Amino acid sequence: MNRREFLGTTAMAAGGAAGGIAAGLATEAEAPAPGREPLDPPGRARVWHIGEAGGFETLRLVTRETPGPRRGEVLVDVHMSGLAARDQAIVRGWFLEDKPPTRIPLSEGVGTVVAVGEGVTHVAVGERVTCAHFARWISGAWDPVNYAVDVGNTVDGWLGERVVLPASGVLPVPEGVDDRTAATVSGSGVTAWQALHEVARVRAGDTVLTLGTGGVSTWGLLLAKAAGARVVITSSSDEKLAQMRELGADVTVNYRRHRDWGERIHAETGGANIVLETVGRITLDRSMEACANNATLVMIGTTPLPERLPQMPGLYVRNLGLRAISNGSRDMLAALLRAVAANRIEAVVGGVFGFEEAVAAFEYAAAADHAGKVLIDHRR
Ligand SMILES: NC(=O)c1ccc[n+]([C@@H]2O[C@H](COP(=O)([O-])OP(=O)(O)OC[C@H]3O[C@@H](n4cnc5c(N)ncnc54)[C@H](OP(=O)(O)O)[C@@H]3O)[C@@H](O)[C@H]2O)c1
Repeated sequence: MNRREFLGTTAMAAGGAAGGIAAGLATEAEAPAPGREPLDPPGRARVWHIGEAGGFETLRLVTRETPGPRRGEVLVDVHMSGLAARDQAIVRGWFLEDKPPTRIPLSEGVGTVVAVGEGVTHVAVGERVTCAHFARWISGAWDPVNYAVDVGNTVDGWLGERVVLPASGVLPVPEGVDDRTAATVSGSGVTAWQALHEVARVRAGDTVLTLGTGGVSTWGLLLAKAAGARVVITSSSDEKLAQMRELGADVTVNYRRHRDWGERIHAETGGANIVLETVGRITLDRSMEACANNATLVMIGTTPLPERLPQMPGLYVRNLGLRAISNGSRDMLAALLRAVAANRIEAVVGGVFGFEEAVAAFEYAAAADHAGKVLIDHRR
């Protein structure tokens, strides 16, 4: 496996990251990391750097003078952050271009604004906020230029006690949305939202298939149920499937035991109208077998091409639509937050780690023994 081959490695291929907490806590010599003190801007605060990005053990906890927010930036005291599959790839050095070792990872989080830079008027000190991960994609159609301001990738992310974020992406979090949920909306949540509501235009009564019990897929389950859909979900684990039924899944299939899961789902449900393809091209054929006529498959997972190219069964006969997406815009994130508050949706959380346990959190996420999201509680 290498960086080109990533995209889809997700948690299934933990490989070679045996660092452990101790490795990650080896802080930079000139900046020992003391326990957390009350923060008063600008102040010193601890952040995690990706280091040389060769594996989780290269993460470094450092104490630094927090830069004040410049024009168009906000300074945020972080409450919680969430880990996604791509964060694992970023820390391993597999995700797109090289990054400076001082890059702060993580694209999802929630915190309180403690200072705003010049020109920032749409959020105020004291507000609880999250931030769109493509922070300059405000609305309208996707454009790859959005990668220029990609939180946790091309600009610093959430894994610090206090971080500077691009104000253009920052949004207040409604009161009814808890921190655990707010910490996962800007990565996994809005991806599932865009797939269901912007691309596939889910309607009550639709059958939605979502693959595996990872972050995006469990958000897909919650949002599809809130939209009145019937939800089919797959997993390698019967225990996780039982958990998904408790969360409202109508049909569950163990994809490891039933290699013909696509045909099984079609036979049992009459076919899915919408597929959240959260694995990628390696499962595309089975997903297409699961489809009803005129279904929409939304490509989310980024696994590399399998050795045998996808045959795309039913593509023409069933008139299937295939669309890939990249996360979501700030407007989509705002719509998601409204829906989450109105429906009292709570993210599926499979593990919560303390701030100093970031390396262990990455290892836990990579092992994929959990369902849903892995979080870091920055106040613990
Ligand atoms: N396009 C975008 O905007 C976008 C946004 C976010 C994520 N992604 C991509 O979407 C994928 C999922 O991301 P994530 O953060 O949700 O990952 P994650 O939380 O790490 O989820 C991983 C889960 O995938 C499931 N899985 C693995 N192989 C599977 C298979 N053959 N069939 C069904 N399920 C399988 C496993 O579920 P079980 O343990 O239940 O078997 C595993 O727990 C990644 O490739 C990620 O890079 C893309």
